[in-house]
Amino acid sequence: MKWILYYMLIWLLGKQSHSYRILVVLPFPGLSHMQFHLQMSKGLARHGHQIDVVSFFPQKKPYPNYTDLVFPISLPKLVNNMTYEFFQENFRNQDQVYYYVDSLGNALCQGLETEVVKELISRQPNPPYNLLIVEIFAAHCFMAFGHHLKVPVVGLSSSALYPWGNDMVGNPPNLAFVPNNLLEHMENMSFWQRLYNVLHTYYYRMYFNYYTSPQSDMIKKYFGPDAPGVRELEHDLALILTNSHLAINGPRPTTPALVEVGGLHIQDDDPEIPADHLKWLNESKDGFIYFTFGSMMQIESFPKPVLDVLYKSLGKLAPIRVFMKAPQPEKLPPGLPKNIRTFTWIPQLKVLRHKNIRAFITHGGLMGTQEAIHSAVPMIGMPLFADQFTNVDLYVSKKIAIRLDYTDMTESKLDHALNEILHNPIYKETMKKVSEKFKDGPMSPLDTAIYWIEYVIRHGKTALRSPAVNMYWWQVALVDVYVFLTITALIIVFVTVKIIRFISKILSPAVNTPHSKKVN
Ligand SMILES: *[C@@H]1O[C@H](CO)[C@@H](O)[C@H](O)[C@H]1NC(C)=O
Ligand SMILES: *[C@@H]1O[C@H](CO)[C@@H](O)[C@H](O)[C@H]1NC(C)=O
Ligand SMILES: *[C@@H]1O[C@H](CO)[C@@H](O)[C@H](O)[C@H]1NC(C)=O
Ligand SMILES: *[C@@H]1O[C@H](CO)[C@@H](O)[C@H](O)[C@H]1NC(C)=O
Repeated sequence: MKWILYYMLIWLLGKQSHSYRILVVLPFPGLSHMQFHLQMSKGLARHGHQIDVVSFFPQKKPYPNYTDLVFPISLPKLVNNMTYEFFQENFRNQDQVYYYVDSLGNALCQGLETEVVKELISRQPNPPYNLLIVEIFAAHCFMAFGHHLKVPVVGLSSSALYPWGNDMVGNPPNLAFVPNNLLEHMENMSFWQRLYNVLHTYYYRMYFNYYTSPQSDMIKKYFGPDAPGVRELEHDLALILTNSHLAINGPRPTTPALVEVGGLHIQDDDPEIPADHLKWLNESKDGFIYFTFGSMMQIESFPKPVLDVLYKSLGKLAPIRVFMKAPQPEKLPPGLPKNIRTFTWIPQLKVLRHKNIRAFITHGGLMGTQEAIHSAVPMIGMPLFADQFTNVDLYVSKKIAIRLDYTDMTESKLDHALNEILHNPIYKETMKKVSEKFKDGPMSPLDTAIYWIEYVIRHGKTALRSPAVNMYWWQVALVDVYVFLTITALIIVFVTVKIIRFISKILSPAVNTPHSKKVN
């Protein structure tokens, strides 16, 4: 009986759900963000919606209900091609936020000039679009499609929100206990830490808004002089989906228009691990450590002293094995220890879920570390750039990772870290608990995202919107109310003091003057 009801429910749900046409614009040139956005888009396509995706990353094989529209701009190839020198020159010493607004913001808005975008602007889509999904990072000019097509806009953030993101949906970013996303992880902040958090947040919010304001001109140039400016478009968002999660980022206030769907990209849809590698992993009876610096970095281009330390420390671990990513292994110095095996590309989630895995050495990229948490594998983090430092610090505070800096890594430090992560049970045990919390929820992150996206299409762009979006910051923070109350209190104190003085003056000659007493 129960299962009949169950199937009827499924059938009814199936009947109710419409097929919508959705435009997805992903102007970001890096694979890391794209994993999140592509899984979101494919999930919507599998749900029966028609998805048109404008990005730098077309699907290799056609995907049903999913149409690629490609930015015809050739990018420098970074996947498996970032050397140590390149990253030192381009990432290490640069102001992170300046790089975001300039290279990953304003420069990407040049994509508005491409034929594919011009055609999208000029044609009458048939059937018409129901929704626009656009990445929230630094190139917000593309939100103008929402206004142009007269459809609600949903923002996708492949990380937790940056300091300038909360305003857009009127989210209360409680700076008393939520350090902003650019700062290192802080718990139980002292007065000075809270002050720093507030000043830093406001500074970078102004900085971002100032440097991205030229995007308004670009919008007007391509969408017409009546098109709204970039700030106005940001405040018109219907919903933001972020890659953060209660189990990892901790409790924080969120308005209904900000939905956390951390872990959405973790879909086991990769091909199998190649047979020879799988055989080696299967035969690693004493376990293996998985070691990768992510999709771009070439470990073989690191300075010799760093590689020497790695060879010595990791070599000593035998019979425990190390499965290490090296895109061009022939460039590694000679003498690679026998317990290390290299690979160039691997279905990562399948390796993290292999029964013989014992630990993960990572650069701290958000996607990979979330996969490790999902698979309950403790980590050694060696952050290189961008958000990797804050990610690793957060995991260290949760006791699921150990941090090492490649700039001052010695054999004894690495020995110690490896020994701890392999033999101190606290890391594996806390990792299991965090992992269980991460996977525990009423719906999967992908289903949650799809639910709220369809909700916005059904009920319109203001359905989830907080009234705070239309108020000044000082009204939302009740600064005016507190100032009024303070002034009122001061006036009451002042008037009371005056009255008391006045009364005591009147009474005093009669009561207090010894002279008057004598007269009486
Ligand atoms: C494509 O969308 C249609 C509805 O528009 C749906 O019936 C079909 O199952 C979808 N195809 C796949 C492979 O998900
Ligand atoms: C790989 O990176 C180097 C810079 O480090 C660059 O000059 C080269 O063009 C890149 N390779 C490709 C195929 O883009
Ligand atoms: C923060 O405070 C709570 C409650 O007092 C405490 O349990 C926790 O350990 C503290 N965290 C840190 C990192 O000090
Ligand atoms: C490796 O082990 C798995 C699970 O035990 C098994 O299914 C697979 O066939 C093995 N593969 C090889 C190549 O040994």
